[in-house]
Amino acid sequence: MSAYVLIVNGHRQTVDASADTPLLWVVRDNLNLTGTKFGCGMGLCGACTVHLDGTPVRSCSTTIAEAAGKRITTIEGLATDAGRRLQDAWIAEEVPQCGYCQSGQLMSAAALLTKNPKPTDADIDQAMSGNICRCGTYQRIRHAIHRAAGTEVTDAR
Ligand code: FES
Ligand code: FES
Repeated sequence: MSAYVLIVNGHRQTVDASADTPLLWVVRDNLNLTGTKFGCGMGLCGACTVHLDGTPVRSCSTTIAEAAGKRITTIEGLATDAGRRLQDAWIAEEVPQCGYCQSGQLMSAAALLTKNPKPTDADIDQAMSGNICRCGTYQRIRHAIHRAAGTEVTDAR
């Protein structure tokens, strides 16, 4: 066990853990930020997506040692302009069904809009391809991202 200093949603936190502890469990169990979800635990579904220095990563496959000293943003701290516009758009488009995957979807979408404020459908599909939704909300997600970006839906999928 070692003490790791983490910067989570703008706050400095010290957590005692083994170097290989997944960031997902640190965030959920040590810091009680339960908006980040466990899905596959293997980097395959995107439910656990957080930002490390603004880049979306799978927190189930990122260790506390890798995250130490970097800016970690979880869904609870998603307060960028793009994040706010996306959350409004998610509500307006009534995107969630069961909701389980949605915090991961929003984290990936927010990283996309910060990097690419006017994404095409192809850009959206590429950025969001690692986020699985068992409820099949993909079309509403695409519409919500376009709404937040102020861009047109360019196909009818
Ligand atoms: S729980 Fe991390 S990618 Fe599925
Ligand atoms: S809304 Fe149910 S898994 Fe995506």
